[in-house]
Amino acid sequence: MLLPSLKKFLVPLLAVTLVKAAQIPFVLNKPLTISTLEEDCDKWDINVAPSEIDTGHLVFETVNSFMQHWPNTRYRNGHNVVPGVVPPGTVLYHGRGDMNTPTNPEWLATDPEHSYMFCRGQTADSGCWQLTVTAIRPLKIIYFDGSAAAKMPDGSMDSQDILAYGKVVPEKYFSERERIKNLCEWGKDLNIDGFVRMEMDFEVMLCNFNEGVLVEPVNLRARPRGGPGRRPDGPRGPGRHWHNYLAPVETPSNYESAYAVSLDVNSSTLPNSGFDGFQSGSWHRYYPGDTRIQLDLTRLVSFYDTSLVPSLVAERYGKERIKHRLLGISLEDIQTVVWKIEELSTVSDPGSGVDWATLIRLIVKRFSERLEMVQFILNSTNPDNSVTENRVLAENVQVQLIAMLQPYMLSTIKPPLDPTSSQWVSPMYKLCATTYTSYITESSLNSRLTSSEKLILVGVGKTTREICRIVTGLWLDGVMAGLEPDFYKPSTIGDEDDVDLGLLLSSWKTRIFGLMKWLDWSVWLKCRPTCGLEEICSLPTWPFRRDSGGDSDDPQPKCVRRMASFGGQGF
Ligand SMILES: *[C@@H]1O[C@H](CO)[C@@H](O)[C@H](O)[C@H]1NC(C)=O
Ligand SMILES: *[C@@H]1O[C@H](CO)[C@@H](O)[C@H](O)[C@H]1NC(C)=O
Repeated sequence: MLLPSLKKFLVPLLAVTLVKAAQIPFVLNKPLTISTLEEDCDKWDINVAPSEIDTGHLVFETVNSFMQHWPNTRYRNGHNVVPGVVPPGTVLYHGRGDMNTPTNPEWLATDPEHSYMFCRGQTADSGCWQLTVTAIRPLKIIYFDGSAAAKMPDGSMDSQDILAYGKVVPEKYFSERERIKNLCEWGKDLNIDGFVRMEMDFEVMLCNFNEGVLVEPVNLRARPRGGPGRRPDGPRGPGRHWHNYLAPVETPSNYESAYAVSLDVNSSTLPNSGFDGFQSGSWHRYYPGDTRIQLDLTRLVSFYDTSLVPSLVAERYGKERIKHRLLGISLEDIQTVVWKIEELSTVSDPGSGVDWATLIRLIVKRFSERLEMVQFILNSTNPDNSVTENRVLAENVQVQLIAMLQPYMLSTIKPPLDPTSSQWVSPMYKLCATTYTSYITESSLNSRLTSSEKLILVGVGKTTREICRIVTGLWLDGVMAGLEPDFYKPSTIGDEDDVDLGLLLSSWKTRIFGLMKWLDWSVWLKCRPTCGLEEICSLPTWPFRRDSGGDSDDPQPKCVRRMASFGGQGF
């Protein structure tokens, strides 16, 4: 039964729906049934939370993080495989022990700071070798998100191993030579030139150095004291060598200890020398990340796609995102995924033309700072606050909530006679949640979406829906508590200054923390307070992760020094 107060907005809402329908004179892919009034009353109920197994927000945030170093350092276990190109003219680097062009697949650094770590020479005086490798045509690549080059057994390599081995093989986490060989063999018939992964910086695994690239050897000055490789008795401190290139590095202990000896991983100071690869990686931390790799989102495959990969739904259930991985995926799903990737590597469906990366970014821009501000205000509340202090805090929050919801506050929305009803905000909730996507969903554009785009569309929809549900709910409670007296004055309230809003604040706080934990946007992952210029905000990662405890720990950022200090007085 409809509440009396609900009748008031039935007519205006109907009008809005009709006007909207009239404004879309296209052949509709799906009839507008989702907008019918009966369903609206149920569908846009702010008390209905998303399902626990929903992954739309994870699709949203992983797509939002592609080719960015920071979010993929925290969430090392990639869940997306995306085709892309390296445009002609792009210069890549390969450090090695001689000037020869490799005859096998090899790894290229996107930045010379990273490849220089592998620049080696035969003798003390002969310098070391770095190949400059320039794309002379678009190189067709496949990108694995996460830290897919971090040689760790607990998930970072899962997605590529499904292509390299046809299964997840944690024990092969250090079989890099075998992995690159298998990947290139798999990609050969699909004309794939290479694969893109991330560790301290991004890298391209190039399959064939005689195809699509110009290779030029450069003889560089080697590190002091006779080339790379720290002597076991070598001096500590700035200038020490931190990567023993001359040791065989195909075993975890050799490779990791080579990194670790050099970097005093227990200290909060980074050495002056040898840290450049880490620093160049940090240039690609935030949106848009490293744009030298251009991804095609119309052809992405996501392991968070629950209809493509249903077997992982149960595997993930109840697990924190940091523990999500592909172990436990069914053989059937592996086959589906591999076929899908192979199919998408050959089709040339241009898709809808929607700029998904920009759309997703826009949503993050529009809400991230304000949500953070609301969280900040609410986190400063405490039980000893006076009634007056609580009122000021609550009013500050309400200002932020209004700003977020302003474009969706239809003039027809009026508080109800029944103060316990929340149905009156449904039209606002719906407009907020669908504003960016209703045209894409309801017009003929929908029929041009690739399956990958449909997945992203659902991700955008689920994400905005939950933001709007929570924010609308917070705003509603603020209104009903009398924070906008010109709009609504609760009859129970006499002198407003006497009303303690402590309960409202604590309920708000729980909900805003819940929303932000659910969204888990990397733009909120930062050092607090902000680091000084002589420092860098750092997330522990392979191979510099000794201070983060076990492999499965959730890395958290902290400020570390960029340079050695002297005299115990800062630097
Ligand atoms: C680093 O700290 C850990 C734990 O405090 C300790 O076990 C380890 O020996 C330290 N390593 C070095 C190289 O000092
Ligand atoms: C909330 O406040 C506590 C105590 O001051 C602080 O430790 C925490 O980092 C704050 N959280 C956020 C998200 O600001």
